[in-house]
Amino acid sequence: MSLPPHWKEVGGEGRVHRVMESTLTARDRVGVQDFVLLENYTSEAAFIENLRRRFGEKLIYTYIGSVLVSVNPYKDLEIYSKAHMERYRGVSFYEISPHIYAVSDNTYRAMRTERRDQCILISGESGAGKTEASKKILQYYATTCPVTDHMSTIRDRLLQSNPVLEAFGNAKTLRNDNSSRFGKYMDVQFDFRGAPIGGHILNYLLEKSRVVHQNHGERNFHIFYQLLEGGEQDQLSKLGLERNAQKYHYLVKGCCPRVSSINDKSDWKTVRKALTVIGFHEEEVEDLLNIIASVLHLGNTQFGEGEDGETQITTESHLTYLSKLLGVDGPALREALTHKKLTAKGEEMIGPLSFEQAVAARDALAKAVYGRAFTWLVAKINQSLAFKDEVYNSSKGSSSVIGLLDIYGFEVFQHNSFEQFCINYCNEKLQQLFIKLTLKSEQEEYEAEGITWEPVKYFDNKIICDLVEEKHKGFISILDEECLRPGEPSDISFLEKLEDTLGGHAHFVTHKLANGKTRKAVGREEFRLIHYAGEVNYTVNGFLDKNTDLLYRNLKEVICQSDNQILSQCFHREEVTTQKRPETAATQFKNSLAKLIEILMSKEPSYVRCIKPNDAKQSGRFDEALVRHQVKYLGLMENLRVRRAGFAYRRRYEAFLQRYKSLCPGTWPNWQGRLADGVATLVQHLGYKAEEYKLGKTKIFIRFPKTLFTTEDALEARRPALALTLQTSWRGYRERAKYHRIRNAVLVIQSAWRGMKSRRKARRRRHAAEIIRKFIKGFIYRHYERCPENEYFLDHQRFSFLMTLVRNPPKSVLDKSWPVPPPSLTEASEHLCRLCMQNMMRAYCRRIQPEWKKQMEQKVVASQIFQDQKDSYPQSVPKLFVASRLDSEEFNLKVIQTLGNDKVKYGVAVTKYDRRGYKARPRQLLLTSSFAVLVAEAKLKQRIDYTALRSISVSSLTDGFMVLHVPSEDNKQKSDVVLQCDHVIEVVTKLATMADKKNKVNISQDSIKFAVARGKEAVIDFTSGPELKVAKGKKGHLLVTAPQLNPR
Ligand SMILES: Nc1ncnc2c1ncn2[C@@H]1O[C@H](COP(=O)(O)OP(=O)(O)OP(=O)(O)O)[C@@H](O)[C@H]1O
Ligand SMILES: [Mg+2]
Repeated sequence: MSLPPHWKEVGGEGRVHRVMESTLTARDRVGVQDFVLLENYTSEAAFIENLRRRFGEKLIYTYIGSVLVSVNPYKDLEIYSKAHMERYRGVSFYEISPHIYAVSDNTYRAMRTERRDQCILISGESGAGKTEASKKILQYYATTCPVTDHMSTIRDRLLQSNPVLEAFGNAKTLRNDNSSRFGKYMDVQFDFRGAPIGGHILNYLLEKSRVVHQNHGERNFHIFYQLLEGGEQDQLSKLGLERNAQKYHYLVKGCCPRVSSINDKSDWKTVRKALTVIGFHEEEVEDLLNIIASVLHLGNTQFGEGEDGETQITTESHLTYLSKLLGVDGPALREALTHKKLTAKGEEMIGPLSFEQAVAARDALAKAVYGRAFTWLVAKINQSLAFKDEVYNSSKGSSSVIGLLDIYGFEVFQHNSFEQFCINYCNEKLQQLFIKLTLKSEQEEYEAEGITWEPVKYFDNKIICDLVEEKHKGFISILDEECLRPGEPSDISFLEKLEDTLGGHAHFVTHKLANGKTRKAVGREEFRLIHYAGEVNYTVNGFLDKNTDLLYRNLKEVICQSDNQILSQCFHREEVTTQKRPETAATQFKNSLAKLIEILMSKEPSYVRCIKPNDAKQSGRFDEALVRHQVKYLGLMENLRVRRAGFAYRRRYEAFLQRYKSLCPGTWPNWQGRLADGVATLVQHLGYKAEEYKLGKTKIFIRFPKTLFTTEDALEARRPALALTLQTSWRGYRERAKYHRIRNAVLVIQSAWRGMKSRRKARRRRHAAEIIRKFIKGFIYRHYERCPENEYFLDHQRFSFLMTLVRNPPKSVLDKSWPVPPPSLTEASEHLCRLCMQNMMRAYCRRIQPEWKKQMEQKVVASQIFQDQKDSYPQSVPKLFVASRLDSEEFNLKVIQTLGNDKVKYGVAVTKYDRRGYKARPRQLLLTSSFAVLVAEAKLKQRIDYTALRSISVSSLTDGFMVLHVPSEDNKQKSDVVLQCDHVIEVVTKLATMADKKNKVNISQDSIKFAVARGKEAVIDFTSGPELKVAKGKKGHLLVTAPQLNPR
C-alpha cells in the first residue's frame, strides 16, 4: 500500500515536517500520523515518543502503513458519532486523520470494489481495547451499510451476538473488567449491494479454568453474576439459587463478586433481550440457565469421608438440584462424582475416588459442561446469523466477507502457563501470516511495477512456529506424546523430554540447557521460548493436565444420558464408546489455528494493534515502560521495519505529478507527454539522487521519507504563489463564468423576445394578408347575395359605415353631411339619419329659450317670405328682430290713449310717401294685435285693419319700400300706403304674421302698382344703381334706385 504524502513529523531532531492535508487540524498534526514517516524508524524511543505525544492530545490512532495502532484512552472520546462515521465514509485512507473507521471503511470499499474477501486482525494485550475496536467496526458497518428489512434482522443479530458472547465468555480480570476469555473470529457476509446478510463466528480456547477458579481480584464469567442479580425470584427458586453470589464457591474465589464498573442487573436485561433478538426459544434459554445453575451447584457440592473412609457427597440438596438441572439420574451422578471406571484387560472396574480426585472430577465436570455449553452457544448464534437464502447460496460469488479477529495478544506474566503458551503460539502464527502477506503484497507490487525485488531483511519467525508445531519433533507433538505415554508421565518428565528433543534449538532454553546469566533467569521447572517478540519463561506445571483436559469416563456417560437438550447435543455417546483418544487441547488449538490461518490467508488483511497505556485503567496516563513492553511484544518495531524495508512512499504517477508539478517549470501548469516522463522531468528538476527513488510502470517509489519531506517543504514554500495564481485564475474564471452566464441569459431572453415579436408580427401579417384577400374577394363579389366569399367584405362595409357614423356623427342640425351607406344598409341608413336628425332637433329644440323661439319663428316666417326673393334678405338674416324699434317714451301718449285697449306690439319709424306727389313724410308705424296705424305726431293718420289688408308688396332689391294694399272701395280705409323703412324685412315679417298675411306678400322684380284712389293706380319702378335714390320719374312713376349688394 502506498504511503501518505501529507504528514508532519517530529523526528529525532525535533524537525517539524509539514502536513499537506487541509482537512487535518493542527491537533491532528501532532507527531506523525504514520510511523513509516518517522525519520528515525529504528528507534523504539522515537516510536514511543510519537505515541505519547499523540496520546497526550487524545489522538489514540496512528498508522504503520496500513496497520492501525490504537491506544486505549480509557474514556469515552467523542469520535464515534454518526457524523464521524459519515466523515470517514468513502474517504481515502490517508486523506483524513487515522481512525478505526478509516480502516473499516477502507476494508469495506476494498471488498466492494475489488470483490475480494477482507479481514481485520485486532490484537493486543488484555484490556488494550480489542473487543471495543471490533465492536466499533461492527457498529460502523451496521450504521453505514445499506439494509433492507430482512437484513436489518441480521444486522441486529450481529450486533446482539456481542452482549451474549460477552456474558458467557467475558469476565472481570485484574487487567480488564470486561476481559474476553476466548478468541473470536467473526465473518460478516455482504451481498452484492454491500448490505450485511449473514455472519459466522469461530471461537478459540475459552479459559475454562476460570469456571472453577479465579485469581484474587477476579471474577467468574459475567453470566453467573448477571443471573443471580437480574434473574426473577421464581426463576432463581426453580434453579435452586439464592440471590447472593457470596454463597457460591465458584464465584468467590477471587473475593470480588461485585465490580463498580459493572451493572450485572441491567446487563442481564440486555442479555435476555439479545437472546430473544438472536432467536433463542424459551426452552433453549431454560436449558442454558439450567446448565449455568448446575455449575453453581457443582461448585457448592462438597465431599466428605464416609464411615469406611470412602469419599462421599455431603451436600445432598445440591446433588438433587444437579440431577434435576442436568437432567440426569441422581444416584448415577452421585456415583460418577465419587468413583471412576477403569478398563483393565478388557474388564471394567469401578474404583472409589480420593477426596482430591473427587474435587478434581467435579471441577472437570463443571469446566466441561460450561465449555461445551459455550461452544453450543456459538453454534446456535451461527445458525441464527447464517444466510439462508438458497439463491444466494447457489450464487456464492456475489457475496463477500469481512472477517474480524479479536484475539489475545502476546502475553507475558510473572508465571506463564499452558494458556500463555497457546496464546503466544497463536501470535507467532499471526506474525507469520503478517510477514507472508505483507511481503507478498510488497513483492507483488514491485513485480507489477517492474521494479527489481530487493530482498528485505526481517526476522522470519517460521523457525519458532516450526519449533512449536512441527510433526513428531515439535513442542505440541512432544506434549501429546507425553500425555498419552503409559506409565507415570508428569510435567517434569515432559520438561526433560523437551530438553532431550529440542535441546540446542536456538529458540528453546531451559535451566539445564542454559548457561551463565540465562540459567539464573530460567527456573528449574521452567522453559523459555525465544519468541519473535521476546523471551518468555513458561512454568511447565499443569501442562499435561490442561492438555489432556480430563473428564472421567463415567461422568461423561452420565451426562450423555442428559435430558437437557443442550447437553445431549454437546456430549455424544460415541465419545464414551470409542476407543480413540480425544484430541488434546494443544492439538485442537493447533488445528483450529491452522484453519484460522487458512481462512485469513484467503483474505486481504488489515491490522489493528491495540495498546493499553497503563495498568490502572486510568485515562490520560501513559506508562512508557508498559507501552514499550507492548510495542515490543506486539512486534510493532518489526512491523515498521518490514514496512520500511523497501520504499517508504509510493504514489501513482498522475497523483504525484498532480501534487508536485508546480515545483518544476517543465511540468507546470500541465504536462502534455507521458506521465512517466513527466515524473522523471520533475524529480530531475528536484534533484533526486538515483538511490532515492525508482520509477515503476505506474508509480514512483521513494525510498526515504526525508526525500519526500524535502519535496513537501518545497511545495509549502511555493504554496503562497500558487495560492495567488489559483485565486487570480479562480476569480477570473468565476467572473468570466458569471459574465457568460449573464450573456447567455441575455441571449436567451433576447432571442425569446425576438422570436415572440417576430411570431406576433408574422401572425399579424398573415392575418392582414388574409383580411386583404377576403377584402379583395369580397369586393369582387360585392354585388352578389351574401355568401362566404363576400360576407367579410359586406360586414366590414357595414361595420365601417356604422363606425364612421359613431365616430363622426352630424354635429348639428345644420350639418347635413351623412356617409354613403352600403347598399345593404340603405334603408337602415335612412332610418338612422332620420332618427339622428330628430334627435338632434329635439335636443336643439329643448335648448331653445322662448324669446329665441319667437325670434326663430319670425326668422322662419321671414325666410319663407323673402328667401331668394329679395336682395336685402341675406343681410337681414344675422340681424335679430327686436320687439319694437320704438321705445315706449317715443310713443305719443295721446295716440296711446286713443288706441285704448289695443296695445301697441311693435312700433317703427317709417317714411311715408304721399300717393300724389310722393312727398316723403316721417311717420310712426304701430302694430297692434288687430290693426296697424300710421301716426304723425299726436295724430292717428291712417288705421289699417288686418282684416282689410289685402296684401303687402315689396321690391326684390335692397330698398326699404313696402306698399300696404287696402281695398280702395272701402270708404273707411284710405288707399294703399307707400312706406319706406330701414327694417323692411322685420316690419313686413311682423306685419304679415300679426295680420296673418304671410301668403299675401308680393315681391316684384321691377315695379309695384298701387291704388291711389278708387280706380286709379300709380307705379313705383325699381332699378339697381350704385346708391339709394328716390325720385319722380316719368309718367308720374316713382323711381327708386336701390344699391346692389350681392347679386342673387
Ligand atoms: N476506544 C475506546 N474508547 C474508550 N474506551 C475504551 C476504548 N477501547 C477500550 N476502552 C476501555 O477499555 C476497556 C477494555 O477494552 P476491551 O475489553 O476492548 O479490551 P480487550 O483488548 O478486548 O481485552 P481482553 O483481551 O481482556 O478482552 C473497555 O471496557 C473500555 O472501558
Ligand atoms: Mg476483549
